[in-house]
Amino acid sequence: MTNIKNFHKFIKKNLKDRSFYIVTNREPYIHTKTSTGIKVSKTAGGVHTLLDLVAQASNAVYIAQGSGNADKYVVNKHNMVAMPPITKTYFLKRVFLSKKELENFYYGFSNQTLWPLSHAVFVKPEFNAVWWSYYQQVNQKFVNAILEELDHKPAFVWVNDYHLALVPKMLRDSGKDIKIGTFWHIPWPTFEIFRVNPWAKEILTGLLGSDFIGFHRGYHAQNFFQCVQRIIEAQVELDQSQITYKEHATKVEPLAAGIDYQEILEIKQDAKITLKKNLNKELGVNIKYLAVGVDRLDYTKGLLERFKMIDRFLEKYPQFQEKFIYYGIMPFSRTHIPAYRTYAKTVTDLCDKINWKYSKNDWTPIHITTESLPRNKVITYYKNADVCLVTPLDDGLNLVAKEYVLSCEEKKGMIVLSKFAGAANDLRHSLLINPYNIEQGADAINQALTISEQEKRDRNIKMRKELKEKNIYQWATTFIEKTLYE
Ligand code: F6P
Repeated sequence: MTNIKNFHKFIKKNLKDRSFYIVTNREPYIHTKTSTGIKVSKTAGGVHTLLDLVAQASNAVYIAQGSGNADKYVVNKHNMVAMPPITKTYFLKRVFLSKKELENFYYGFSNQTLWPLSHAVFVKPEFNAVWWSYYQQVNQKFVNAILEELDHKPAFVWVNDYHLALVPKMLRDSGKDIKIGTFWHIPWPTFEIFRVNPWAKEILTGLLGSDFIGFHRGYHAQNFFQCVQRIIEAQVELDQSQITYKEHATKVEPLAAGIDYQEILEIKQDAKITLKKNLNKELGVNIKYLAVGVDRLDYTKGLLERFKMIDRFLEKYPQFQEKFIYYGIMPFSRTHIPAYRTYAKTVTDLCDKINWKYSKNDWTPIHITTESLPRNKVITYYKNADVCLVTPLDDGLNLVAKEYVLSCEEKKGMIVLSKFAGAANDLRHSLLINPYNIEQGADAINQALTISEQEKRDRNIKMRKELKEKNIYQWATTFIEKTLYE
């Protein structure tokens, strides 16, 4: 198994004198003002938690947007601060955006154009020339932050996600000796969808500045090849998984991200298994079955469909009434975007409706929090839950799914997983559903709660074997190897 130690050695041996930079929009730690002074905290889970681990193991410079209200007070004159707070193994370099840049680059082009364009969820992307011009401007700002740090040494830059699609080309155009690997964490749409984007060509050529582009699923890579073939004049060699554009070759392959197997097992070991008892006490109920879900409040996550499944499950299998609760951790996300505000309201209204329909004595089936919880608390929920519901309508990967399978009790926990989540490929022994099929979802919840302990164990063991092998360090090693050598 590739672990942090091997990864560290791999970096030393293979990057040699190349300095290593990771560039992404979201920072792993923020500084905020409090009544007792400045506090540093970890930003809630997501892909940046993986990149934080990669940076710790490799001493990379991590370049990201400074988003905490005290971020600027703790950085040096290069906008850098040593992180993580205790071990300080790498430098976080913050890029500060103006309110206008944030509005147009992050809330605008990234999350109202590229995000809905890339996810097959029937939310119409908006195309706005002002957002696009800020998207270019902010991408250039990230590039400048990297170039500021480059000395005369060659470099390796890991570009992360859809916020920074133009960075690879901009870096290549700088003429420096840089190996560029890009990971696109969200789905890549079909040609018929992608072609409506007025800046389709610029996005593609921006990405093709990379030496390697990784996607989570094979069909995301296939869609990308098709878009390139039909939109720009490039040489596409499908058998080599390679695209040559203006004499520069880019490899494009699927490479699903893994999780930190060891770290999760350690947190799990300390997590108590008394949560159900505590919840019963707190809520004044006597529940036997606990279901959990952990998602940003985002319209791609299939939350309305999930609550409809719970409704149908309680209707069709009434023996679970008063014995089952669903605990949803669903922090607000991107709330300046109207579609997110409307979605959050529709979701919470539906929860109220279902709770009213079934409420009996002191029991209601659905309990939610819109706060994000610390990682050890989330893992405690996973460990105690009989079932985890992961029902996105479309999703690049979904780390929650992988984390739950590893954190649950082997003979007790079972995952119900959307086959449209990238993680479904590695978690084939989960209870796979089409999230639009409410009846199937309701039956899968029943199945998860009624199959034998032996069957749960068999399924969980098979999935954990994959999670152990294809862990985060294996993923990062392969990503770097492909960028350097292929
Ligand atoms: O899945 C794509 C992604 O950008 C991840 O990188 C990240 O974890 C998640 O969405 C959260 O997005 P945001 O940074 O907008 O909160």
